[in-house]
Amino acid sequence: MIKKYVMTPGPTPISEEVLLEHARPLMHHRTPEFSKIFIETGEKLKKLFKTENDLFILTSSGTGGMEAAVTNSFCKGDKVLVVSIGYFGERFKKMSQEFDLDVISLDYEWGDAANPDDIKKALDENPDIKGVMIQFSETSTGAINDIQTIGNIVKNYPAILIVDAISGLVASDLRTDEWGLDIVIGGSQKGLSAPTGIAFISVSKKAWSLIEKSDLPKFYFDLTRAREASLRTPPQTPWTPGISIIVALNKALDLLFEEGLEKAFERHRVLALATQRAVEKLGLELLVKDEKKRGFSTTAVVVPEGIDGKALTKIMRQKYGVVLAGGQGKLQGKIFRIGHLGYVGMFDVITAISALEMALKEVGYKFEVGAGITEAEKVFIENNYLS
Ligand SMILES: Cc1ncc(COP(=O)(O)O)c(C=O)c1O
Repeated sequence: MIKKYVMTPGPTPISEEVLLEHARPLMHHRTPEFSKIFIETGEKLKKLFKTENDLFILTSSGTGGMEAAVTNSFCKGDKVLVVSIGYFGERFKKMSQEFDLDVISLDYEWGDAANPDDIKKALDENPDIKGVMIQFSETSTGAINDIQTIGNIVKNYPAILIVDAISGLVASDLRTDEWGLDIVIGGSQKGLSAPTGIAFISVSKKAWSLIEKSDLPKFYFDLTRAREASLRTPPQTPWTPGISIIVALNKALDLLFEEGLEKAFERHRVLALATQRAVEKLGLELLVKDEKKRGFSTTAVVVPEGIDGKALTKIMRQKYGVVLAGGQGKLQGKIFRIGHLGYVGMFDVITAISALEMALKEVGYKFEVGAGITEAEKVFIENNYLS
C-alpha cells in the first residue's frame, strides 16, 4: 500500500469533514433543505470574495466560469485586452478568439507578472476596449498579478475588469469591491478543497450594463437566466445544480471561516515560503525569479539540466505516492509544480520535499540530502507556524 499525497495546485486534498458532507444522501434541489444550503453557500462565497455584487454558482469546472464571463460580457467584434502571463492567460485569449472578439494581447514571459502601467497604456491607446481579462494567480507558473493596482486603473475606464481568481482565492487576499473588480471567477477544487465541478462568478453593476447588451451565443452559461432564477423565492439555479458538490462546498467554506481568512492567507504564505526556500536550498531554480511576483498557491521549479523531469515526478508518484504537477503548454517537461493550496499543512510540504529529495537522489542529481527539509522546518519555526 502506498499512501497518496496530492500536492498539486488543483484538485487539492479534501478533508474528511468535507468528504462526509459530499457523501450525504442526495437531496432534491427544489427542497427547503437544499435551498438553505444553497443560499448559505452563496452568502459565504460573497464573504470570501469581499463583495456585495451578485454572485452565481455554476455547475462546471472553472473554465465554464471563464466562458460565462466572456460570452455574457461582450458583443461580436468587441475589442478586449487579454493579459497573459502563462497558460491560463492563453486560455482567455483562445476563448475570446473563438467567440470572435477583437483581441489585443499583452504577453509577458512565463514566470513574470503583468506591469500595471502597460495595461494603463493599452487602455489610453485603445479607448474602445470593452474588457480586460487577467489571472490573479497564474497556476502554470506560480506568479501572481497585482490585481489591486490593476483594479484601481481599470475602474477609471469604460472597460470592465474580468479576473480569473480560480487558483488565487484563499491563497491570497482578494477584495472584489474595494479593488473595483467587475467579474471574478473561482472554482471549488482549488483553495477551498471541495470536490471538482463548481465554479462561482461575481458580477458588478458595471458588468451588468454590458451583459444586458451582449449578443454572443450562450445558453447553459447565460447569466441573465441565472439572475432570473436567483430572484425566485426561494432562489434557484436555472438548471439542475451539482447538489452534492454544493453541500460539500458549504462545509468547506465553514471550515475556512472557522480558521479565519487572515489565518488562511498567512498559512499559505508560510507554506509557499517554506517550499520555495527548501527548493532553493537543494540548488534548484524557481521559475518566478522575483520573490515579489511569487504567489502562494503553487511553486514552479525548473527541471535541472541533465535530469528527466517526467521521470522525476513519476518516481515521486509511483514510489512515494506524492503527486506533483508537471509543466503546461510550452513549459511541459521544463518545470514541475508543487501545489500548497487548500487543505494543506506544513507536514504535507515536508513530505513533498522529502520525496523530492529521494527522487532527485535516484535520478543522480547532486545535493546535500536533508538540506531541503531542514530549510522548510527552519521557515516554519521562524514564522511561528505552530502558534
Ligand atoms: C488560474 C486558472 N484558471 C483556470 C483554470 C481552469 O479551471 P478548470 O480546470 O477547473 O476548468 C485553472 C485550473 O487549473 C486555473 O488554475
